[in-house]
Amino acid sequence: MTIDLAALPHDFLWGTATSAYQIEGAVAEDGRAPSIWDTFSHTPGKIDNNDHGDTACDHYHRWREDIDLMRRLGTNAYRLSVAWPRILPGGDGPVNAKGLAFYDRLIDGLLEAGITPSVTLYHWDLPQALQDRGGWPERATAEHFAAYASVVAERLGDRVTHWATLNEPLCSAWIGHLDGVMAPGWTDLTAAVRASYHLLLAHGLGMRAIKAAVPGAQVGIVNNLSTVHAASDSEEDLAAARRMDGHTNRWWLDPVHGRGFPADMREVYGVELPEQPGDMELIGAPLDWLGLNYYFPQTVAADPSAPAPHVRDVRREGVPRTGMDWEIDASGIEDLLLRLTEEYGPRSIYVTENGSSFPDVVRPDGTIDDPERQDYLAGHLAACASAARKGAPLAGYFAWSLLDNFEWAYGYDKRFGLVHVDYATQVRTIKGSGRRYTEIIAEHGRRAGRREAA
Ligand code: IFM
Repeated sequence: MTIDLAALPHDFLWGTATSAYQIEGAVAEDGRAPSIWDTFSHTPGKIDNNDHGDTACDHYHRWREDIDLMRRLGTNAYRLSVAWPRILPGGDGPVNAKGLAFYDRLIDGLLEAGITPSVTLYHWDLPQALQDRGGWPERATAEHFAAYASVVAERLGDRVTHWATLNEPLCSAWIGHLDGVMAPGWTDLTAAVRASYHLLLAHGLGMRAIKAAVPGAQVGIVNNLSTVHAASDSEEDLAAARRMDGHTNRWWLDPVHGRGFPADMREVYGVELPEQPGDMELIGAPLDWLGLNYYFPQTVAADPSAPAPHVRDVRREGVPRTGMDWEIDASGIEDLLLRLTEEYGPRSIYVTENGSSFPDVVRPDGTIDDPERQDYLAGHLAACASAARKGAPLAGYFAWSLLDNFEWAYGYDKRFGLVHVDYATQVRTIKGSGRRYTEIIAEHGRRAGRREAA
């Protein structure tokens, strides 16, 4: 697998990504209050094996060791999320000084190690107190998010330039309020559409708040996008693929690029948007960068009996899959990078997540070789470099994930880490994929050095 590393800029960010609830643990320490994920994961039957994030990777106590792992991997950037319920345990109201102090220490530690922090403000852990007041279907939640964004930006903004408002609002809205398999576990189309609107409003308000607090802040949003294919050439399936593209991609991209919510999807959902004057300007304010999380392509057929968007996934046989049963298709990341470039003209793009879960085998000597994850990594990086060669303004890549961690409804069985975590002992071991990443980063550094010297 050849990766055209020369196509990537010399100051490319090579990172790993995590999120607070998936790794931190310490859910009741130093004033943190429950989030919707504490509630959901402690509801019997919601998570495989009834796992929860109470301890997770114990990163709250082991963050120094984890920064050391990043350094050993050779990465120069790290994407983390801040836990809203550590900062404002009630969602609004008093600020928890101990919560802020944790992220202060973490940011200082990263900078000392020469690692650029990229801070995401919301990776799904809504304070339960706000859920109790209606959650994302309510406009007030977006306003509280803006106040939370101000608090964090004012505190960390002297050291953090890279900010993301939201991670994958699709999951919060569609999977959390429509499919019901993520917190808060609702299956209500009206609530889901209202949640999607208020999430994007929160993005707009949050971006304004960060920019007010941090001169020179680079603010973006992180979306999980997919290439969407029709299962057949029939008119019905082609229309279904268009609807799925609207549901997965355009609903999240058009508004933040000042184009409003796609008219065809508004009709498909048939839910009135809770729009107020000035909202669309806020939501559509120019982004400094766009974050792409890519995992798999989708193939769909029409299914009038299914809830909006009235499609069903079609399983393609005979194609490679990860341990999540997700189809592997590296060309999808290239296609999406080029589509974003052509259709939306972003100033820069970061691949903010990309990675794979496979059942890892720990050898008797404690080492873990994960050839399938190595191939996934190299294949997707090759596709990214190819997109960059063709003109995509790709400025960085964050592997999901630094560590094996709490994979939401799948619990701890699904492992995405470049670093293995033994949950019984919390021992971390760099996997073969981690070593491969180190080699790729080093090779890029050598080439960039030669280019500069020439
Ligand atoms: O673990 C998640 C992450 O929290 C959001 N993006 C997808 C990852 C893998 O499912």
